[in-house]
Amino acid sequence: MRRLLVTGGAGFIGANFCHYWTRAHPADPVVVLDLLTYAGNLASIAPLIDSQRVRFVRGDIADRARVEALLLAERIDTVVNFAAESHVDRSIEDPQGFLRTNVLGTQVLLEAVRHAWAAHAMQERRFHHVSTDEVYGSLEPTDPASTESSPYAPSSPYAASKAAADHLVRAYARTYGLPCTISNCSNNYGPYQFPEKLLPLCIVNMLQGHALPIYGDGLQIRDWLHVEDHCRAIDAILSASAAGETWNVGGAGGDTNLAVVQALCDLVDAALAADGSLAQHFPQSPSTSGRSSRDLIQHVRDRPGHDRRYCVDSSKLRERLGVSAGTALGAGLAATVQWYLANEAWWRPILSGEYRDWYARQYPQRHAD
Ligand code: NAD
Ligand code: TYD
Repeated sequence: MRRLLVTGGAGFIGANFCHYWTRAHPADPVVVLDLLTYAGNLASIAPLIDSQRVRFVRGDIADRARVEALLLAERIDTVVNFAAESHVDRSIEDPQGFLRTNVLGTQVLLEAVRHAWAAHAMQERRFHHVSTDEVYGSLEPTDPASTESSPYAPSSPYAASKAAADHLVRAYARTYGLPCTISNCSNNYGPYQFPEKLLPLCIVNMLQGHALPIYGDGLQIRDWLHVEDHCRAIDAILSASAAGETWNVGGAGGDTNLAVVQALCDLVDAALAADGSLAQHFPQSPSTSGRSSRDLIQHVRDRPGHDRRYCVDSSKLRERLGVSAGTALGAGLAATVQWYLANEAWWRPILSGEYRDWYARQYPQRHAD
């Protein structure tokens, strides 16, 4: 049995992890610490809070006293750190908050953990840090996949802040003997993903008849990982990995952004063609008037410094822990489309307020109205 602190548990992956963990380990107490930035959404874990499967605490990982008090009061023995600023485009617009949360916040969290656990046997404790494949930088088409020992070469302020956090986690492990593990995963997709990221952005835009913005030629390659597969990998790492290890977690292989968006278009069109009431409910969707959602694809200005290709080698995870991404991309995308169709009450409120302002700054031509 573990007593878990999940930081960033109201965000996309953290919320999925809370759903996963409370199903897989129903006896474990789970506390979520989340600042509820624009990306945090209590609705994603509301049923778990209401049923007291999860205790929610609003707070900042960079608040040392608060975090240390929480670790002691809840007798936390396992921390899984998801809390971060996570959107590359926002890091390009304003990197400061990324350094504050991802670098300083991680260091403060490590410091709080180090002090709270000082009197305990470290073999019964674990600090797991969730990182990204973006720390390895961009690959050329024929480059081999990045392994856990590939050099770090981050391109964006987001990736640089995550790389710095990884270095701090390793420094705390070596200097203070903190029992840490790190996972570097590829692009996640699935339920509860904030619609500024490519896949949910395109799904909700299709349903509203808005343009699907493809950066540059759309031939950039990402290795899409279903979030449930990611949660299973973290579970395996927590239960079977020695402290001090790093694990790459990759997905279905690698596809171009354009191919993935085209696949989403076809899935949405098929879902609306199969269900007249859905089509009526989303009258602006091209499929409702018999057109293809692909007509909404618009190539827009490329992201500055845009990484062309990520690809991680997950053979260590597969061979040593017996875990691989089981969800085929087609099935995972279909399930994700179905989730967004069934959960408009989750995504609709996000499209107002702060998110609307951000989107209007990104695509002013779309918001002339
Ligand atoms: P997200 O942006 O959806 O959620 C981040 C959560 O952290 C939000 O709930 C937010 O409120 C919270 N948060 C932000 N600053 C905080 C602070 N100072 N203190 C406490 N909480 C704070 O992000 P996500 O997509 O769920 O990503 C989770 C983690 O996984 C991040 O560390 C990210 O770098 C990493 N990651 C994500 C992906 C992906 O595809 N989404 C891929 C690789 C790695
Ligand atoms: P994103 O979901 O922002 O994740 P990340 O930048 O962490 O990989 O973007 C995924 C890919 O999709 C990336 O190559 C950028 C591209 N992209 C678009 O083409 N259009 C968009 O509107 C967005 C948000 C991303």
